[in-house]
Amino acid sequence: MSTVLITGTNRGIGLGLAKAYAKQPNNTVVLGLRNPDSMPDIQGEAAEGVKIVKVKIDSGEIESPRKAMEELKKQGIEKLDIVIANAAIGDCFGALKEVDLSSFEEHWRINVLAPLALFQACVPLIKENGKFIWMSSGASIIDRVPDKLDAGYGITKSSMNYLARYAHYEEPSIISFSLSPGWVQTDMGDRGARWAGMEKAPITVDESVSGIVKVIQDATKDNYSGLHMRYDGSKSKW
Ligand SMILES: NC(=O)c1ccc[n+]([C@@H]2O[C@H](COP(=O)([O-])OP(=O)(O)OC[C@H]3O[C@@H](n4cnc5c(N)ncnc54)[C@H](OP(=O)(O)O)[C@@H]3O)[C@@H](O)[C@H]2O)c1
Repeated sequence: MSTVLITGTNRGIGLGLAKAYAKQPNNTVVLGLRNPDSMPDIQGEAAEGVKIVKVKIDSGEIESPRKAMEELKKQGIEKLDIVIANAAIGDCFGALKEVDLSSFEEHWRINVLAPLALFQACVPLIKENGKFIWMSSGASIIDRVPDKLDAGYGITKSSMNYLARYAHYEEPSIISFSLSPGWVQTDMGDRGARWAGMEKAPITVDESVSGIVKVIQDATKDNYSGLHMRYDGSKSKW
């Protein structure tokens, strides 16, 4: 029985995670959405005792997470066991010499600044051994030969990895780590696949989500916190 907040739950991996946590009896699942009306109804698939709460969190508005926490407190939610900073954009491809700088700036705002703002807003509600998960990407890995012209997006996830590791050391009572979901069949994943000349991404949302949920469940301060993990439980390079 946990209170789980996930951002970007109206589609893709976030929707899969929302459904998965709603299938665990008695959870409270907080759906962070920039447009709450865009969320499909998942109450019908929920287990007994599950409470689903929608709250507006727009990654483009720096004050949005703080306002969302005030709203949750008004609804009697004073504690978060798991927070998953999932919402992101991923459409900044191309060689460095041609990366669109305004797109890059937008990616940095949504993928780095917004998760940091979310973390700052959530910390007071995360108690001993609560978990803050930073949804990362294989594109974040610096220790590789660039192969997908994905630096414009990847650098934002590298920066987020940095935040995840710092949070681990700065907050001794919080389990904080980056988590890469694999290359997943979502709007973002399939767009990247087409960019790379493939028809679609290799793994399904269900495969990714069942791995992610297990990694988060198994995570302790001593095993995964401060690291960059993958959805299959392996440790990623930085
Ligand atoms: N799919 C992959 O292969 C893959 C691989 C590596 C990492 N990831 C990471 O996994 C996470 C989920 O990706 P996905 O594939 O599920 O992406 P997706 O299908 O494109 O969904 C993105 C989600 O983020 C939300 N979002 C985007 N901009 C937002 C904003 N300004 N404010 C609030 N919400 C916003 C979207 O909401 P709207 O519908 O309102 O836009 C949507 O719910 C991301 O962090 C992504 O970087 C994905």
